[in-house]
Amino acid sequence: MAILPNQPQRVLSGMRPTGALHLGHYHGVLKNWVKLQHEYECYFFVADWHALTTHYEEVTVLEESVWDMLVDWLAVGVNPGSACLFIQSRVPEHAELHLLLSMITPLGWLERVPTYKDQQEKLKERDLATYGFLGYPLLQSADIMVYKAGLVPVGEDQVAHVELTREVARRFNHLYGREPGFADKAEEAVKKMGKKNAKLYQELRRKFQEQGDTQALETARALLDSQQNISLGDKERLFGYLEGGGRIILPEPQALLTPAAKMPGLDGQKMSKSYNNTISLREAPEEVEKKMRTMPTDPARVRRDDPGTPEKCPVWQFHLVYSDEDTRNWVQQGCTTAGIGCLDCKQRVIEAVLAELAPIQERARQFEQDKGLVRNIIHEGTEKARDVARQTMQEVRQAMGLEY
Ligand code: TRP
Ligand code: SF4
Repeated sequence: MAILPNQPQRVLSGMRPTGALHLGHYHGVLKNWVKLQHEYECYFFVADWHALTTHYEEVTVLEESVWDMLVDWLAVGVNPGSACLFIQSRVPEHAELHLLLSMITPLGWLERVPTYKDQQEKLKERDLATYGFLGYPLLQSADIMVYKAGLVPVGEDQVAHVELTREVARRFNHLYGREPGFADKAEEAVKKMGKKNAKLYQELRRKFQEQGDTQALETARALLDSQQNISLGDKERLFGYLEGGGRIILPEPQALLTPAAKMPGLDGQKMSKSYNNTISLREAPEEVEKKMRTMPTDPARVRRDDPGTPEKCPVWQFHLVYSDEDTRNWVQQGCTTAGIGCLDCKQRVIEAVLAELAPIQERARQFEQDKGLVRNIIHEGTEKARDVARQTMQEVRQAMGLEY
């Protein structure tokens, strides 16, 4: 497996600009980003080109959606001091890498991605028999690899895209990592580690290649990992040489599966704009209250004195997200004995949701009033992202014989 454990794991994730975000995004994705930004070097971007792969006919709302989404990211605490935030289309290197990768990606790999047929089925009203739509998982691969990201936080539905990325990375390294004189260069690099480490490396490499000893592989990787005196290029060679392949130019990323979001919509289905069951992060408090008061409950509770079953009620799903054990016990007890009314029960979650939203909305107002600030944040993030992306593209061009 061609990963490069010597680099601090870089995290990359993107989100399509769908406009104002809702509680489902918050609990399903953004809370996780806020946590990750303290643990890794994070790159989070607005996938505006991805939006066009399906919504190419609706470009007028795109700009507003992009800024709305960014305000929401900032409002929930995605911190530009910790994470690099940017917009995909401002970093044209994504497109260049996508193009170059398209040269080596078999059509069948793309046709086999499960989302390809699924989404075409699901979005029947759109014509998705386009080149861009078929290629979008490869665009995602380029998004990831142009930063040499090691970890990609995604939901279940996107794991196949990370898997495709790994296959494309392997193919790329196989095709272009075999520079002339690779073995000689690798042997030169081994020497630079010093006598003792060089000997150890060779031993471990032999153990892995001759006996398939994966423990030896791990140890050798850790050894390379700790080398301070060799260049990154040499390190890449030595990682590749270890496994018998060529130089690792594009490392294989791993999916960081986001725990399945338990955040239900107002009707108990998954919260989604297309189901019209959302509470947006900037929903006015009166509106939150109104929406939740009219939420459906266990249909068995027709009258106040009919007992109910929380497991049959979407409000209970909210308690599972928002309430502590005492409150949950109170619901279980009160609902099953008709001791509490549904409005009493809902009131507790209404308060919890409002308490969660209040500071988010306060911050959102500040960013809304200062669009210049948001633009500056994105400008800076884009510059930083481009520096990394440019560097990768230089290596890629060189590997593909395009450095004239
Ligand atoms: N395809 C992802 C989605 O639809 C968004 C995305 C684009 C992405 N590029 C990415 C996610 C790179 C992770 C990494 O949700
Ligand atoms: Fe649902 Fe609560 Fe009413 Fe029970 S009491 S049906 S859990 S809203």
